[in-house]
Amino acid sequence: MSDHWTNYWQQGHLTSFGNGFKNNYQGALQQFWYSFAKKLEENSTVLDIGTGNGALIQLLQKDKKLNCYGVDQAKIHPEVTNSIGGVFLSNTVAENLPFSNDEFSCVVAQFALEYSQINKSIKEVFRVLDGKGIFAFVCHHPESIIVKPNALILDAANFVKINITSTLTDLVNCLDYKELTSAECYFDEIDTKINNGFKKGFDAMQGTNLPAFLNFLRQNKYNNIDYKKALSLFMNELELLILRLIELVDAATQSATLLKQVKAISTSYDEGKIFDNNHGGLLATYIIGKSTI
Ligand SMILES: C[S@@+](CC[C@H](N)C(=O)[O-])C[C@H]1O[C@@H](n2cnc3c(N)ncnc32)[C@H](O)[C@@H]1O
Repeated sequence: MSDHWTNYWQQGHLTSFGNGFKNNYQGALQQFWYSFAKKLEENSTVLDIGTGNGALIQLLQKDKKLNCYGVDQAKIHPEVTNSIGGVFLSNTVAENLPFSNDEFSCVVAQFALEYSQINKSIKEVFRVLDGKGIFAFVCHHPESIIVKPNALILDAANFVKINITSTLTDLVNCLDYKELTSAECYFDEIDTKINNGFKKGFDAMQGTNLPAFLNFLRQNKYNNIDYKKALSLFMNELELLILRLIELVDAATQSATLLKQVKAISTSYDEGKIFDNNHGGLLATYIIGKSTI
């Protein structure tokens, strides 16, 4: 995995949706965790895997004092987590948890375990979870309103990388030499390639930032800016986007295996889907249940 999560959490976000949620998760996800927290006894020992900057731990502790631990493979932001309450461990992976057997009465994870090596992490979860303990995992679903649009953006980003890069390079060279008539031809060529070759929608292409980058070049065609540097920044961002989205889509695909393995271990469980309160779109899939004994 790249270290993009470290970069992300260092920006001080609380949730994994950037500015998409004010303060913390809202709506159906928030309700899911508030309702799950009611099952927990005061002062229970709770572990949140792939905690990020601790959004879930904050939700769980809204009306209850808990002993919370959050671990994440990435480096998380101490100033954000300090205000939440709990022990937070960066650079700590689900596959190798630094805790004793049966240490926790509850283990939770949201949009996290499915990113891990499930064969190892599930064993670890049930090792550190007390025999009478409970768990709740909220996972990505390939058809969710979170994953599906991002899978389209991934297609668009790959299309740009494979089909548009060389024309972009030609365009930038023309702008550099102020060959503006030829540059216009390349702008047109890019539009034509996208219109003829990428049929999966304007929104997905917007998600790659290519339209914004082309606008930037158009607006600056008479200026003397470092076009090559701008292109190199755009291409770096595109590569990062592709890596991040591959990871998301792979994680969503792994959720089914995760649920299967949890069901094989747990003595009693309840699984279901979480839908958006306003539009009814699928947000995530979940499994909650009791440990093995
Ligand atoms: C989509 S974010 C979710 C963060 C948080 N649970 C939330 O709901 O806001 C996924 C997090 O899982 C972490 N992660 C991915 N693989 C992991 C692993 N094997 N062990 C621990 N954390 C992992 C990432 O670093 C990232 O912070």
